[in-house]
Amino acid sequence: MKILTIVGARPQFVKASVVSAALRPLCDEVIVHTGQHYDKNMSDVFFEELGIPKPAYNLGVGSGSHGRQTGEMLIRIEEVIGQEKPDILMVYGDTNSTLAGALAASKLHIPVAHVEAGLRSYNMRMPEEQNRVLTDHISAWLLCPTQTAVENLAKEGIARGVTMTGDVMLDSVLHFLSVARANPEKARIYETLGLTPKQYRLATLHRAETTDGGVEAVTRIFRAFEQLPQRVVIPIHPRTRGLAEEAIAKGGFRNIQLIDPVGYLEMLLLTSGACQVLTDSGGLQKEAYFMEVPCVTLRTETEWVETLHGNWNILASLTTEDILDKALSTVPDPAARDSKPFGDGHASEKIAQILCPQA
Ligand code: UD1
Repeated sequence: MKILTIVGARPQFVKASVVSAALRPLCDEVIVHTGQHYDKNMSDVFFEELGIPKPAYNLGVGSGSHGRQTGEMLIRIEEVIGQEKPDILMVYGDTNSTLAGALAASKLHIPVAHVEAGLRSYNMRMPEEQNRVLTDHISAWLLCPTQTAVENLAKEGIARGVTMTGDVMLDSVLHFLSVARANPEKARIYETLGLTPKQYRLATLHRAETTDGGVEAVTRIFRAFEQLPQRVVIPIHPRTRGLAEEAIAKGGFRNIQLIDPVGYLEMLLLTSGACQVLTDSGGLQKEAYFMEVPCVTLRTETEWVETLHGNWNILASLTTEDILDKALSTVPDPAARDSKPFGDGHASEKIAQILCPQA
């Protein structure tokens, strides 16, 4: 049994680290990196820290418009499929790398396994929503992180091949948070950044919906951050760096600490040590939830509705007033956490068993 795994963007490296570890004893896995994320601190550091096997192929596609980026990947993944002749092609999540992999395989009649299937924001303007809806409809195995995802697929008439496996990101947080805490070099991150645990807030911003509003949109967000009683640390995604620097230069904000993107282990430490997370990322909302850190999601909808119960996660529109109000007034209810909505931390093993059943 040969599985061709497609990864390309930061969150996919995290997911692949735990799924690869479970798959490799059971089958032959060939990893393809599309090159969507290519900076050292957006890509290489994840492979080094998380022990992900070196990709057999790096397609070097890099940045570009959605059509160009997805199209280049499609052409090159088709070539790799021709050489490797896999039994299954596996994709993760909702990026352009996900859609390109699924489409290339589907056209060549290679069955597709989609990890993190069934998520919906019901906002078709989001590139991620387009990618996941299309990928789900051409997948043979739909490996769902939550029961909500299973139900979303049922509403679209998809039942065959659907399994609720739990969320591989929970597996990964459970494993790597203790690895990070036990690593003295990584644990120095607080000291290096001058942070006292639980005395700072952690923020990230990278979605098209946020950055498309330009420097004005980022300034509105930063005006709220400026008025928070704790410092706001932002590991800044390359997509947002220019806008963030311009907003700070014009607004003279002093409560915001921009830092370079950090690796996964340091990010887990920064998240667990924060008194609150503010983000437009899908993955970070959940990581905050797993670590019982309150989160304000800077979007008007979320795919991860389970995190909203008991105000552990709260949605804020992108206005200064709403962000400030939600960040200051929301108190989560410790008693209102659902029982294991993201599974039991063994999603990766379940996925490996489904794709490579042992006699
Ligand atoms: C992508 C995913 C998004 C995911 C995110 C995780 C799509 C449509 N979006 O968004 O769902 O949450 O990854 O980070 O696939 N850049 C660099 N260096 C890099 C990577 C990107 O400088 O290593 C810059 C480039 O200028 C690029 C921009 O960031 O144009 C955006 O990168 P891109 O890969 O298109 O999308 P992300 O915003 O990272």
